[in-house]
Amino acid sequence: MELTIQTASAAYPVILQEGAIQSISNVLPAQYDRLVVFADQHVWTLHGEEFKRQLDLEFSLHLVRAGESAKTLTHYEQSMTFLLENAVSRKSVLIAFGGGAIGDFAGFVAATYMRGIPFIQIPTTILAHDSAVGGKTGINHSLGKNMIGAFHQPLGVLYDPTFLKTLPDSEVRSGFSEVIKHAFLSDGTWSNHLQTITSINSLRKLDWQAELAKGIQVKAKIVEQDEKEASVRKYLNLGHTYGHALEALAGFGRLKHGEAVAIGLVVTFYLSGLEQLATNWFKQLSKLGYPLEAVTQFSIEEIITYIRKDKKNSGEDIQFVLLHEIGKPYVSTVHEEAIRLAHDRLVNLVKEERT
Ligand SMILES: NC(=O)c1ccc[n+]([C@@H]2O[C@H](COP(=O)([O-])OP(=O)(O)OC[C@H]3O[C@@H](n4cnc5c(N)ncnc54)[C@H](O)[C@@H]3O)[C@@H](O)[C@H]2O)c1
Ligand SMILES: [Zn+2]
Repeated sequence: MELTIQTASAAYPVILQEGAIQSISNVLPAQYDRLVVFADQHVWTLHGEEFKRQLDLEFSLHLVRAGESAKTLTHYEQSMTFLLENAVSRKSVLIAFGGGAIGDFAGFVAATYMRGIPFIQIPTTILAHDSAVGGKTGINHSLGKNMIGAFHQPLGVLYDPTFLKTLPDSEVRSGFSEVIKHAFLSDGTWSNHLQTITSINSLRKLDWQAELAKGIQVKAKIVEQDEKEASVRKYLNLGHTYGHALEALAGFGRLKHGEAVAIGLVVTFYLSGLEQLATNWFKQLSKLGYPLEAVTQFSIEEIITYIRKDKKNSGEDIQFVLLHEIGKPYVSTVHEEAIRLAHDRLVNLVKEERT
């Protein structure tokens, strides 16, 4: 299956099917001098052989620490050294093989090495249906997540759902949040269907190729209208304002990105006045085993302090993406007191759940 992402600056395909890597010739430039693969170390151990079998081309390999810990300035410098020592040129193509972390990291390296070289995304997580599309790349600073970055669209995305089979449950949960976020932003029938999934086993057995295709289409439609987040792209932050705060306070990597976003969605639904949706979603998260206890570990003061510091909240106002109803997002300024209240209600749900 092939989808097309159209932005103001580029158009590129997402090839979403078993054996997708074999279609690399569809996305490679007519002329290039070499391929460099940046692979998540853990993913390489699991799927490196299959990757080589499918790619069937020569490449230089640079293994990067697994997951979020890849996205540091130290690794950035080491990777630049690797590229320079290996005489990688502007005619070379960089390939990212792994989840959203390696995609963001390798994408940022590609965006900045010699002022930008082409790159290809080969995602291996569910969450990466979000991160691999849209051209946001970046690394973390000790003072904030994704604080150093660039917009750099890939030549293409080669997405093989077969790789998802080895994901641990926590990563399936994390990715599912971004999929259902796309459903909440766009389509009641689709989100109703996803809301019927209440066991991790049935979640694992979803037809992921179909779900990822729908998610990518929602994201693509938004990015097509607003590549650089001047307007509607903000909607993609649904659940993220509160979620990012939890993720940061827990320490990056400890609470998975999507797990934090899932919890952030409960708060978002309360702030939107969608009470029933908030409690239903909370119950679903509980049945699926999301780490809901996290919200009891931080005070609302700590959370609000982080939200104010977050780059998307300049000035005194705290902006949230809310829903009029499923499929109808809008951006609104929210009073601190309302956030406090929504947080308290979430904490109460967690406490009730314990008894
Ligand atoms: N650029 C964007 O628009 C955007 C959007 C959303 C998220 N992100 C970023 O994406 C990152 C999160 O991505 P992620 O959730 O994919 O996490 P990740 O890349 O950190 O991967 C999570 C873990 O799963 C492992 N893994 C990956 N694929 C696997 C597989 N097939 N089988 C077994 N294990 C596997 C990795 O080694 C890692 O330990 C965050 O850094 C976030 O900021 C970016
Ligand atoms: Zn996200």
